[in-house]
Amino acid sequence: MNEAIRTAPPVPLQTADIPIVSVVVPTFNERDNVTTLYRRLEATFKDVPWEVVFVDDNSPDGTWQVVRELSRNDNRVRGIRRIGRRGLSGACIEGILAASAPFAAVIDADLQHDETQLPKMLSLLQSGAAELVVGSRYIAGGSAASFDSKRAGASAFATEIARRALKVEVNDPMSGFFMIRRDRFEEIAPKLSTQGFKILLDIIASAEGGLKTVEVPYTFGSRLHGESKLDSMVALDFLGLVLAKMTNDVVSLRFLLFAMVGGTGLVVHLVTLFLGLNAFDLPFAEAQALGAFVAMTSNFILNNFLTYRDQRLKGFAILRGLLAFYLVCSVGLLANVGVAFSVYDQEPIWWLAGAAGALMGVVWNYAISGLFVWRK
Ligand code: GDD
Ligand code: MN
Repeated sequence: MNEAIRTAPPVPLQTADIPIVSVVVPTFNERDNVTTLYRRLEATFKDVPWEVVFVDDNSPDGTWQVVRELSRNDNRVRGIRRIGRRGLSGACIEGILAASAPFAAVIDADLQHDETQLPKMLSLLQSGAAELVVGSRYIAGGSAASFDSKRAGASAFATEIARRALKVEVNDPMSGFFMIRRDRFEEIAPKLSTQGFKILLDIIASAEGGLKTVEVPYTFGSRLHGESKLDSMVALDFLGLVLAKMTNDVVSLRFLLFAMVGGTGLVVHLVTLFLGLNAFDLPFAEAQALGAFVAMTSNFILNNFLTYRDQRLKGFAILRGLLAFYLVCSVGLLANVGVAFSVYDQEPIWWLAGAAGALMGVVWNYAISGLFVWRK
């Protein structure tokens, strides 16, 4: 190293330049949005020293190049370009850990979140009123009006699962818009999953003793440019996260009973299939469907008597529960086949793939029917 460089005293920073808040922005194919977001952040933080850390997963559209250009003109802008890794949660974690400020926010690049809420979120953290501030669509004053009905339904369903399964009290745990004290985040970070989309939910569920949380309402807007990266895998990710956080329950006696009942269901199914084919001369597909239907029904009855005897459904609730159970099991079957298929795709061992699928199915049926069929 050049002697002059090595012995040069560090240039002291002006305190006014040291950021108080770091804004972390995960990006994937957001080339046309990042400059607008940067300008809006600049307009938002008039009197507050801030920085922004873009975390880009090597976007094919070259988002990281646009970020690089911004950072060459303004040293409050930093860009992390990740290669060989994909994932929203992992990008957020990496960005927050790279932040230098005591408070870190996460905001989407596509301007669906309302950056004008950031100063309010910051002052809640600075005053000690909160350790975590969540931008919430589902409290008075907030809205997700830009969602179509399908997405709104999925969001509401996932929120309900999270709130019940993980006993989360926040109204919008699926939000991707929040601000947190970095010291608290550092404590929690080793427990977080880098896979998946639901970083906030993971933070809330992983914080031992909880985080003092305040929600501020905002309106979830429409995407400026480009398209959403959420796809059907997100549902699986989400379920995996919920199950991981529920581990105690998975090995409980109730789960074992549930799995045993599932085993009897297999026998019932095969017997019905045999009778359908041989005694009633049904075509195979119909006999198979009948078998599934009878097996689901007998599983429901057995679970209601055995597995959930402490919260047994009675009277009219039986019918409601039975219909819900059919629905849960149908989705479980899709999960079963999906997992078996992807295992088989990697390792063509039929029994391994079949067992993995069956395990997925029983875990799904157990977890979800515990929330919606025999709910407390
Ligand atoms: N680095 C990185 N890697 N960024 C990603 C990835 C990834 O694999 N996938 C998505 N992003 C970035 C996007 O570029 C965007 O800035 C942000 O994460 C949100 O992704 P969108 O694709 O816009 O998701 P959305 O609008 O459908 O979902 C939003 O709403 C959900 C709530 O309903 C997000 O805010 C989610 O976090 C939120 O849960
Ligand atoms: Mn979006």
